[in-house]
Amino acid sequence: MKKITTIAGDGIGKEVMEAGMIVLESLDLNYDFIESKAGYECFQKCGTTIPEETLKNARKSSATLFGAIDSTPGEKSPIITLRKELEVFANLRPIKSFEGVNSLFKNVDFLIVRENTEGLYSQIESFEKSENGKVTKSIAKRIITQKASMKICEFAYKKAIENKKKKITCVHKANVLKKTDGIFKDSFYNIINKYSQENPQIIANDYYIDATAMYLITKPQEFEVIVTSNLYGDILSDEGAGLIGGLGLSPSANIGDKNGLFEPVHGSAPDIEGKGLANPVAMVLSISMMLEFLKEEYYANKINLAVENVLKKGKTITPDLGGTSKTMDVAISIKDELEKLI
Ligand code: NAI
Ligand code: MG
Repeated sequence: MKKITTIAGDGIGKEVMEAGMIVLESLDLNYDFIESKAGYECFQKCGTTIPEETLKNARKSSATLFGAIDSTPGEKSPIITLRKELEVFANLRPIKSFEGVNSLFKNVDFLIVRENTEGLYSQIESFEKSENGKVTKSIAKRIITQKASMKICEFAYKKAIENKKKKITCVHKANVLKKTDGIFKDSFYNIINKYSQENPQIIANDYYIDATAMYLITKPQEFEVIVTSNLYGDILSDEGAGLIGGLGLSPSANIGDKNGLFEPVHGSAPDIEGKGLANPVAMVLSISMMLEFLKEEYYANKINLAVENVLKKGKTITPDLGGTSKTMDVAISIKDELEKLI
């Protein structure tokens, strides 16, 4: 039987994973789920934030579902390690407003495509020390290769076509970071030139990251697909989540040539941990993205519809959306709605 690795992690990661599994296990799918460890609790028990066995399970699975983890000071990040190990170079973060949700904006619907393997998240950092051993400087290397930039821009372009979008925006800071972001921006226009004759309907433009941060809160409906480097994409996707009702609604997919890793955008949320307050919708929508990747489009679409219906009714929603329901109540009402739709 084909396999899906599940890594619940820490804090609300465990809570939203349990909730998501209620929805996932209600479907008639032929997958075995392999529960695996990663994160802070895992570090305390096994001395590593991500055991080799977890990586092995993820490598041999058709897809991996990830909750969230607490950071472990001084130790490598399990999620960044997984993204590298699985060579999932594209991080997709859809930002879509939902009817019935009290949010800053309505009719927002864009996709952030974030480069996932390099940039400032290459994790190549060092200290310079004075003669008496005191740290005087810290340095982070920001690596941007032409190969990875071309690959992510081409991927984003193809996603735009596939999703019938008409506009693609490259976000960078090439006026200051002339060499690194210069390569990124040039790669983007190389891809645009390569495909523009085939797809005259696609409008391409580019903005600086700082201006984009402003445009997202002044005219978010203008965006359709954003392609950008690792750190910028991370920041803009949290801003995007804020436009449509918060991190509890934001799913993500990490896609490679062979593998897929799916996770809500949010972290382990220690401020609400253990209280049943976590919104499971981001996790449920990440499951939908995973099913789409696994070519189970029928179930993926039904899950999206079930979530839309539950949010529209507004009866079973968690406190982040103004409701009083618990994590599990929301998961059960999505599952019940799904059963009606299938
Ligand atoms: P966070 O995403 O955990 O929380 C930010 C805010 O959003 C908090 O107020 C939290 O209560 C709220 N929130 C997040 N998810 C929610 C949900 N599903 N329902 C309702 N409210 C929700 O980010 P924060 O506080 O910066 O980081 C907390 C920990 O998570 C840190 O240790 C951080 O390193 C880790 N982290 C892990 C990530 C991952 O596992 N991929 C991603 C981001 C942070
Ligand atoms: Mg983030």
